[in-house]
Amino acid sequence: MYKKTEIIRQTFLNFFKNKNHIIYPSSSLIIDNDPTLLFTNAGMNQFKDIFLGYKTTKDKKIASAQYCLRTGGKHNDLENVGYTSRHHTFFEMLGNFSFGSYLKKKSIIYAWELLTEKKWFNIDPNKLLVTIYEYDIESYKIWKNIIGLSNNKIISIKNKNNVQYTSDNFWNMEKYGPCGPCTEIFYDYGESVHGNIPGSKKDIGDRFLEIWNIVFIEYHKLPKKKFIKLKSPSVDTGMGLERISSVLQNVKSNYDIDIFRQIIQGIKKKFNISNKVNHKALQVISDHIRSSAYIIANNVFPSNEHRGYVLRKIIRRAIRHGRSIGLKKCFFYKIVPILIKSMNQANHILIHNKNQIENILKMEELQFSDTLNKGLKILKEEVKNLKNNILDANIVFYLYDTLGFPIDLTQDFCKEKNIQIDMNKLKKKIKKHKKLNIQEKYQNKNKLSISINKKTNFIGYNFSKQKTIVKKIYIENKSINKINKKNKGQIILQSTPFYGQSGGQIGDSGTIKSKDGIFKVYNTTKYGNIIIHHGKISLGKIKKNTLVTAKIDIKKRKLIEKNHTATHLLHAGLKKILGENVLQKGSLVNEKKIRFDYTYFKNLSFKKIKKIEKTVNKYIQKNIKVISFTTKFKNAKKKKYVFLKNKIYQNNVRIISINSISNELCSGTHVSKTGEIILFKIINESSISFGTRRIEAVTYKKAFKETYKKEKKLNTIQKLIQSNDSDLIKKIQNILIMQKKLLKNNKNITEKLLILLIKKISKKYIKINNHYIFFYILYNEKNSYILKIIDQLQKKFQSSVIILINISKKIYLKIKISKKLSKIIPANTLILKIFKKISGKGGGNMNFSEGIINSSLSINKIIKKCKKLTFAKIQKKINNYKFSTKNY
Ligand code: SER
Repeated sequence: MYKKTEIIRQTFLNFFKNKNHIIYPSSSLIIDNDPTLLFTNAGMNQFKDIFLGYKTTKDKKIASAQYCLRTGGKHNDLENVGYTSRHHTFFEMLGNFSFGSYLKKKSIIYAWELLTEKKWFNIDPNKLLVTIYEYDIESYKIWKNIIGLSNNKIISIKNKNNVQYTSDNFWNMEKYGPCGPCTEIFYDYGESVHGNIPGSKKDIGDRFLEIWNIVFIEYHKLPKKKFIKLKSPSVDTGMGLERISSVLQNVKSNYDIDIFRQIIQGIKKKFNISNKVNHKALQVISDHIRSSAYIIANNVFPSNEHRGYVLRKIIRRAIRHGRSIGLKKCFFYKIVPILIKSMNQANHILIHNKNQIENILKMEELQFSDTLNKGLKILKEEVKNLKNNILDANIVFYLYDTLGFPIDLTQDFCKEKNIQIDMNKLKKKIKKHKKLNIQEKYQNKNKLSISINKKTNFIGYNFSKQKTIVKKIYIENKSINKINKKNKGQIILQSTPFYGQSGGQIGDSGTIKSKDGIFKVYNTTKYGNIIIHHGKISLGKIKKNTLVTAKIDIKKRKLIEKNHTATHLLHAGLKKILGENVLQKGSLVNEKKIRFDYTYFKNLSFKKIKKIEKTVNKYIQKNIKVISFTTKFKNAKKKKYVFLKNKIYQNNVRIISINSISNELCSGTHVSKTGEIILFKIINESSISFGTRRIEAVTYKKAFKETYKKEKKLNTIQKLIQSNDSDLIKKIQNILIMQKKLLKNNKNITEKLLILLIKKISKKYIKINNHYIFFYILYNEKNSYILKIIDQLQKKFQSSVIILINISKKIYLKIKISKKLSKIIPANTLILKIFKKISGKGGGNMNFSEGIINSSLSINKIIKKCKKLTFAKIQKKINNYKFSTKNY
């Protein structure tokens, strides 16, 4: 029966090809334009609109092997990975789909044929049993009468608490969306494995493994538990490739199938891991390398939000498990080649993005290592003294809030050791913390709650001025009939040439004039389809329902337009120079500059920056026509026009097209020919977070200004070093060589002087028994030199007290006492004694103390007093003292 995973995948697809299905490739892990879905979680996702009847397809019978991720939302298996033998974050789902072709009977017959026929998977039918939804009589009859299963092999699964459509055999894609009753096929590993039959209230165990889910999509689930019956029901089936492999390879854990064995063995070999280590950690790592690599290959990078956050969680979880089996930083990225090998036919996307995947994993591990080490150290300490095996929520919160150690990692750590966390207390703490954050965020924010649902007609693509009617006026959130007396407020017009801030482009400013007064608009924003003019009355008043002339600040608008078109050219230039993987992360376009954030995980060299700048300027010089048109979003995607992956678009979208150079979905305003931009200059390029970089740039007059500024600086440098353009670099190089030489000479001289000084001080001691006491005054010495003096003296005079006063802007005191002597006279006690009599501040340890004297006494008096005091103290402490003042 043994079949390689690769063969199983292919056999499944061949079977359905034989049954006249069209084989579709796996869609991306990220489904564009579906805000309900974080990552693709089932084979049917790419067909969601067809299931719901929004779209039709000529292919009525389809089959696929789909990459899936179950790490959030309705289907989340992340926490289970490592603790069960069946769960994964990333897996492949084999599925067949019928849209208006076959329904229940054929889908069940197909499944049975593929699983049990000798020619195909050849599983013993006696080893299979099924579940059905309690009200799905039709499926029951098919299993019973056509397939011939006995009653005890057809288990009916009831709704939970008698609530409609809540049974485990009623499948939902997400909280809302396509859903319907399902029938599942289970494989029985036999009595030797612990477990109870599906649907049983007792521990389900590992004996019965769900291998295939056949869903009849009959409803569209909407909020408030509303189920709409679909006009035409369809079939959606899903079989986890890793699970069916475990059956056909006769192993009891998915982690024992060929592809996982290959990864786990590969890791063990690469890092010399003994067979004794915790196998669970290896399972987690082997699962998480698959999910993180495929996510990164889909251009999602670790971050603190949305998909990036899920990815970060997965990587960090893997790293923590790695540390638990002794894998040091940075191990995780080194597994990528092993993974690529294991995925064989399904590895193209990984090979294509290998460098990117490795770099990002490495950086993330590097970045996280310190936090992880600190957090783990604290956790390990804390769990030593637990009461009732419960970890205090305060510690979990401290780790998270102060150290940035993720809560889910603490939870995972505790789960592994069977330690409980006081979750109620933790939740309360987090809630309080969030509330404070939100309060801070919204303090002083002026919110306008608008109660009209009409649309403002935007005519600003073609006109800068428009006669129109005032529809609404607001002051401090209240709708009013007129605005006057220098009041600040918001105005909504029937139509307007003012662009409302969106898509990175700032809002227009200008004036709204009526026969009664002038309203100066300083910003324009959008609220749904309504455009809001924010401003202040500068003369007279403006009344509701009256005729006004709305006129934008055209000079400012023209500058914004140059910058906006340049932003599109920059985006195209970045893709050309750095590669198609570059994705826009955000942008700001105003009349002054362009700010463009994008994904890229390496530093940009000066040469690369200049290459990007040059490319954009080339596009400008070509003076290409900029045109706009609308098309269907679907069409735009097909044509590979550029759009933001996490933005929701309407069905009809506007394209800004600059020949073949750039075709981007955009609602902004633009120049009509690229030549109008005149010049483009990058003024700054930096990294703003891991994997995200920022370019700031200017155009037109500002770009020239920037060039002049640089030239002026250069000119000043030339004047300062008296050089002309041709020998400038040579001259600076000479200056640097000279500077290096001088510094070296200077160092030699100072060192010689230091030796002389140490010699001089060495002679000025007082000897008490065999102990040498130094008290010496220095002037304006550098701290590093003073420390060197102390060091040298101490080496020469094994038992000594060295007291140095350095008089510069302040009076500094340093005391060093050799080890044995410091037990009788500790340096920190001595300095405090001094500060009791002579005002000052400082401290230290037994061997060394230092401080600043801030007494108002004259320097002479300070020195005298200090000397007397210290000697008296030292004398007192050392028994049988004897002065030998000959050298003092
Ligand atoms: N959509 C169903 C599932 O994910 C069948 O493919 O189980």
